[in-house]
Amino acid sequence: MRFHVLTLFPQAFQSPIEHGRLGRASSRELLSIQITDIRAYTHDRHSSADDYQFGGGSGMVLKPEPIFEAAEDVLSGYTEDLRSQIPIILLSPQGQVLNQEMARELANYPALVLICGHYAGVDERVRQNLAAREISIGDYVLTGGELAALVLMDVVARFAPGVVGSSDNVEGDSITSGLLQHPLYTRPAEYRGMEVPEILRSGHHGEIDLWRRRQALSRTLALRPDLLARADLSNSDLDYLQSLGYEPERDLAEDGG
Ligand SMILES: C[S@@+](CC[C@H](N)C(=O)[O-])C[C@H]1O[C@@H](n2cnc3c(N)ncnc32)[C@H](O)[C@@H]1O
Repeated sequence: MRFHVLTLFPQAFQSPIEHGRLGRASSRELLSIQITDIRAYTHDRHSSADDYQFGGGSGMVLKPEPIFEAAEDVLSGYTEDLRSQIPIILLSPQGQVLNQEMARELANYPALVLICGHYAGVDERVRQNLAAREISIGDYVLTGGELAALVLMDVVARFAPGVVGSSDNVEGDSITSGLLQHPLYTRPAEYRGMEVPEILRSGHHGEIDLWRRRQALSRTLALRPDLLARADLSNSDLDYLQSLGYEPERDLAEDGG
């Protein structure tokens, strides 16, 4: 899996890539992250990558030419066939909101090109004629697309084979599994009078699995009942949830489902 990030602030990626899991994965050649400085594709003597808005208004806008040229240059390293498969993504608060499902889907591409906006945003021609998709990392506005690109790469990289220890770790994650994850404990078995549940120390794997499943169900019911409508639930899960007061028909009706 390859990520190509187009940004005006390459230094924003240095520490997270060097020190985080993304860095470890790239040093093991499980994925590669290439940062491209948009300013390197400017042609005037001031290396201007942004300019005033037509029509007035506060805040500078990223110019289209350096972004188009940087994206074309990055893609020129691929065969025509691969190039047509690589989506160019504009990070933007106006985009489709990133979630685990989308991350899993994005992990199937051979590479992603990520455009980081800044200031007031990016010239509309980039959005309409260069980017194939626009992705937001949530309903809030960041100063720039760099943090959004890091979040997207981190989330997508978890689905790339080998980046996270075992695929079980990823599939059991909250949200990915359809539920919130069960509680986790490590040593010591007792800390300041707070004990790890006996069942987890019992060695009975079948009972431990059942306990974990029920914890995941009750936690999801308490904290994110909206997830239950889409979760893959067995009859025994439903019986357990109903014993806790879950009423699927009522909850679906409240959701408008
Ligand atoms: C200050 S924002 C510009 C917001 C723009 N004025 C608007 O209202 O849509 C600057 C840049 O940060 C990035 N950005 C901000 N919020 C984001 C979000 N929630 N998700 C992804 N990127 C975001 C985008 O690349 C954006 O071009």
